[in-house]
Amino acid sequence: MHIRPYRTPDAAGTLRVFERAIRETALSHYTAAQVEAWLGAPRDLDAWGAERARVHTYVAEAEPPESDVIGFADLDDGGYVDRLFVSPDAARRGVAAALLGRVAEEARLRGIRRLSTHASLVARPVFERAGFVVVGPETVARGGEQLARFRMERAL
Ligand SMILES: CC(C)(COP(=O)(O)OP(=O)(O)OC[C@H]1O[C@@H](n2cnc3c(N)ncnc32)[C@H](O)[C@@H]1OP(=O)(O)O)[C@@H](O)C(=O)NCCC(=O)NCCS
Repeated sequence: MHIRPYRTPDAAGTLRVFERAIRETALSHYTAAQVEAWLGAPRDLDAWGAERARVHTYVAEAEPPESDVIGFADLDDGGYVDRLFVSPDAARRGVAAALLGRVAEEARLRGIRRLSTHASLVARPVFERAGFVVVGPETVARGGEQLARFRMERAL
């Protein structure tokens, strides 16, 4: 596995990882109705790709010959990590930890002093191991469902 900046052809791969991570992995901590509400309506691939490029996305790619996208994370100019998703096929091998390491490295290079995120119940321990602390629990409304999550931060 290696981590590199997002490229335009990664749109479909990152979207697939996003959908599978929610449908399969997040189902361990949320109900089926919550998972479907989180996914929402099917995403338009072009809009998805444009958003990935805008927020500086980093992609974890399997080694050749597969070279599939197995995970991704993003970082906006204010140090906010909006998305961290890993394929269920690559779970629990440190892919998310490596992505968060890269995000922190990139943030320091850009002069960002603090990272923040809204972590899902599944992701909280992963962020904690990467040095984030819980600021507080939150509930977010998605399509009629209430989803628990945590506001978390890490000083750099
Ligand atoms: C959270 C997530 C990004 C972690 O990816 P990962 O590459 O497996 O994470 P790492 O290998 O670095 O760390 C593994 C830890 O992740 C959590 N985790 C990963 N897969 C899990 C699963 N199927 N069930 C429960 N916890 C899981 C556990 O805390 C695990 O630690 P453990 O193996 O000691 O129990 C991934 O599980 C995912 O995409 N989840 C669904 C979407 C989501 O919640 N994204 C975060 C939005 S803020």
